[in-house]
This record gives sequence, structure tokens and C-alpha cells, in this order.
Amino acid sequence: MIKIIVGTNRKNSLSKTIAILYQEILLERGAESEILELEQLPADFIETALYENNGKNEGYNAFHNRVKEGKKFVFIVPEYNGSFPGILKTFIDGMTYPNTFRNKKCALVGLSSGIGGGGIALSHLTDIFHYLGMHVLALKPKLAKIEQNMSDNLLTNRLYLDLLHTQADMLLEF
Ligand SMILES: Cc1cc2nc3c(=O)[nH]c(=O)nc-3n(C[C@H](O)[C@H](O)[C@H](O)COP(=O)(O)O)c2cc1C
Repeated sequence: MIKIIVGTNRKNSLSKTIAILYQEILLERGAESEILELEQLPADFIETALYENNGKNEGYNAFHNRVKEGKKFVFIVPEYNGSFPGILKTFIDGMTYPNTFRNKKCALVGLSSGIGGGGIALSHLTDIFHYLGMHVLALKPKLAKIEQNMSDNLLTNRLYLDLLHTQADMLLEF
């Protein structure tokens, strides 16, 4: 089961919309996936699941277990202030040791309102995942000016769609 992780906890995020599109692309290829939203994390997990409280928040543990059981991941990562959302790093910092991602595989998709398409954010995240021992697929679609390339929750940009389909094929082979 591939885990698609929505890299923000912002309500009604475009990242969630892209995650749903990605799930459909995988299903077309006969691959089941589960969407995991950081929005589902307990609101107080920063106080109750990190450091000396590591492993003590049941809600966090339940979410973490659904991540832990994954072997392959897709991270949908919006660009926030030039990098990836702080909530994603905070989630990673709450994970119990030995870390969840060692020797696993992932694909990264960036999006932004501006021209960056989350490119820098994906580089930052790649460094972190490599440090944690996770293999990151080389092809990283950067969906820039996302609001101008979507309509009715659908991507209207042919190239963006092709990139997601190609990445999905590669992830299944990875
Ligand atoms: C806190 C915050 C910071 C943002 N910073 C940037 C930025 O640095 N560059 C950019 O192009 N877009 C920025 N955006 C716009 C998001 O990248 C854009 O809305 C995104 O592609 C979709 O994010 P969403 O999944 O939260 O809807 C920011 C949005 C938020 C909420």
C-alpha cells in the first residue's frame, strides 16, 4: 500500500486536491494507496508527542503507525516561505526511533503559487530523507503557479499531468 502524505495541515489545501488526483493516477495502474493528512494529527501534538513525551500521544501514535506500515510514499509538498511546511518537519521530529523511513522509498511533488514550484522545499526535504536513510525518486515534478494551472479541482496543464503520470510509473518500478 502506497502512502500519499499531504505535506500541510492547512484546511482545504490544494495539496490535498493533488493527493486525490495522484491516488486516481495510481489506481489507473492497479496500485492501491492511502491518503494521510497532517491535518488529522492531534492539535496539541507539539506539547504531547515530542521529546520527553515521545510515544505518549495515542492520536499521534495511531497516525504514525499508519505511516510506519508504508513501504513507499508520495509526499505532496506546498512551498511555504521558500521551503516545506513546518508541520511536516514537526511530524518527522515526533517519530519514534528507529526511524520509520530507513530503507524505504518515496517520490516528491512540489507546488507553489509562485514560479518556484516548491523546488527548494523538495531539496531541503530530500536532504532530510537521505539523512534518515530513505531513497528519493530523482524525478520531482514542480507545479509552479498552481492556481493558474487548475480548474474545478483538476489540473489543466498537460505537462504537469504527464509529469505526475511518469513519476507514478517510476515509483511503481522503484
Ligand atoms: C504560510 C504560507 C506560505 C507560503 N509561501 C509561499 C512561498 O514562499 N512561495 C510561493 O510561491 N507560494 C507560497 N505560498 C502559496 C502556496 O505555495 C500555495 O498556496 C500552494 O501551492 C498550495 O498550498 P496549499 O496546499 O496550502 O493550498 C504560501 C502559502 C502559505 C499558506
